[in-house]
Formats: sequence, structure tokens, C-alpha cells
Amino acid sequence: MRFQQGVDALSRQSALDPVSEVIQGAVRQIYASSGPAGRRVEDAMYGTWLGHPLHPSLTDVVIGAWTAGATFDLLEMLGGRAFARCADGAVAIGTAAATVTAVSGLTDAQYVVGSARRIGILHGLLNVGATVLQSVSLVQRASGRRGLGRLFSAVSFAGLLMSAYLGGELIQRYRIGVNRAADEKVPGDYVPVLPLAELPENQLRQVDVQGSPVLLVRRGARIYAMHAICTHRSGNLAQGQLVDDAVQCPLHYSQFALEDGHVLRGPASFPEQCLATRVRDGMIEVGPGAGLGRCRHEPAMGHVAQGEEERMAAPAMP
Ligand code: FES
Repeated sequence: MRFQQGVDALSRQSALDPVSEVIQGAVRQIYASSGPAGRRVEDAMYGTWLGHPLHPSLTDVVIGAWTAGATFDLLEMLGGRAFARCADGAVAIGTAAATVTAVSGLTDAQYVVGSARRIGILHGLLNVGATVLQSVSLVQRASGRRGLGRLFSAVSFAGLLMSAYLGGELIQRYRIGVNRAADEKVPGDYVPVLPLAELPENQLRQVDVQGSPVLLVRRGARIYAMHAICTHRSGNLAQGQLVDDAVQCPLHYSQFALEDGHVLRGPASFPEQCLATRVRDGMIEVGPGAGLGRCRHEPAMGHVAQGEEERMAAPAMP
């Protein structure tokens, strides 16, 4: 409880903002000046290739390895000398993983603001401190000063636990790294949403499907539909723009493939839920997708033609 009160107090410390801004600016500058290769590294660090944020996945490796290291250190202290090499290996694995984890965390942090950013900077500083201490510990262990090595690791582990608490705060309280579109509804069956004639080609159009905003795009004979809430930070995709075969979020410029909603460019990492479409009697209908990344968009023109044929074949009104 007291610890949480301290965290709350720190989240109000605007004095941390200038430091955060400098770090965020430096990260942006590094990526911006690294060209296409930097872009690929940045997307890799977001986890666009994974369909999930990379950072929380990597932290599990670090926490797991350093926890194992602390356990082996304890067993060694209790007389199990055979555990010494296990401890060193676990600390080394955790330290290597922590380096990549720090890069992915800094990459994610570019778009964090307000109280979450203040918690994020403390989380980052604790992680960097813990990594430095574990690196020093490895040097001590290699030099035969095992007691000192274990001490550095123990202090590092305490910092890691505090940092992990702040990481949980970032996710659960500030919803950083959470799929912001996860609560949007997927209709159980096809729902008519808009006359086909009211959807011009290559324009973003938002419709409501059972309370969830859905983006429609017509491209030639195909109509694409996906949830309109960006999975990154809830940007409205209907207010974005088309870039080749993708829709680009207006807030931080993530790009989602029209075809199946997968992320073509971060900072988003979760794909957008696409929905199936069809045209019946001149109305666009939106239905359940087959699952993330797999959607069916029946050719609209075929159905338009079919609908017209049905109307022509129908008996004239008396
Ligand atoms: S809200 Fe950040 S990219 Fe969409």
C-alpha cells in the first residue's frame, strides 16, 4: 500500500518530464536517421512481426533467468558448489536478454505521455541499473570474487522486482501495450450497414456495427471492413488515410493491411480485426471474420450484378 502511494506520488512529478522528453527525442532521432534499416529494427522492436508487443515477452526471459540465477546463488551459498556454473549461466542469459529488452522498451516509450511516461522512465532507469549491476556481477564472478558477484546480483534482483511492479502498473493501470480494440464486437451474423452506392471508391467510411465503429473501404470490386479503433492507442482509423493497400492511423501512423488487418508498420503490434463483407440487394453487409488475419471479402461487383439480374427476373409490380 505504501509502495503504491509512493508510485502514485512519483507519477505526479512533472520534474521527470524533461528527462523523458530528451530520451524520447533521442530514440526518435536515432531511428529517423537510420533509414529503412532503422525502420525495420524499430518495427521488430515493437513486435509487428509477432502480432504482439515484444517488450513484455522479453521481460519474461529476463525475470525468469535472473530468478533462476538468484535461486542457484542461494543453493551455492548453502553449500551446493555445483550450482555456481548454473548461476553464472542464468545471470549471463538474463543480462543478454535485458539489453534487447531495454531497446524494445525504449522503442515503445516513444509515444507514451503524462503519468505513464513518468512511471515508464523510473521503470527504465531501474532496469538499466539492474542490468549494469548484473554485468558487474558477471565480471566479479569471472574474477573469482563470487561473494561480491552474488551481492551485486542480489541488489540487482531487488531493483528488478520494483521495476516489474512498475511494468505491471504501466500495463494494468495505464493500458500501455494493451490491444485497445480488444473489446470491439464482432457480429455473429451478417449485418446490413450501408447502401453500396454510398461508398465511393478509395474513401474511408465509418459505420456502426452493433455499437462498434467499423471502417469500410471499397477498392474496385472488393469491399474491406475492419474495426476502426487502432489497436495501439485507440486512434480512429476512419480519420486516417490510405497508403497503398493499407490504412494508416492518424495518431502515430501505424499501418494495417486492408486484406487481413495485419500490421505493416508500427508502433502498433496487434493486428486489426478484419470483418467479412458481402453485398445483398445493393446493401453492404458486414459479418464475422474467420479470425484475426483471415477474412473473406466477397467481390462486391459480382453481387451487384447478381442483384440486378434478380431484380430484372422478378415479376413486374401489378
Ligand atoms: S493510435 Fe498509435 S498508431 Fe494508432
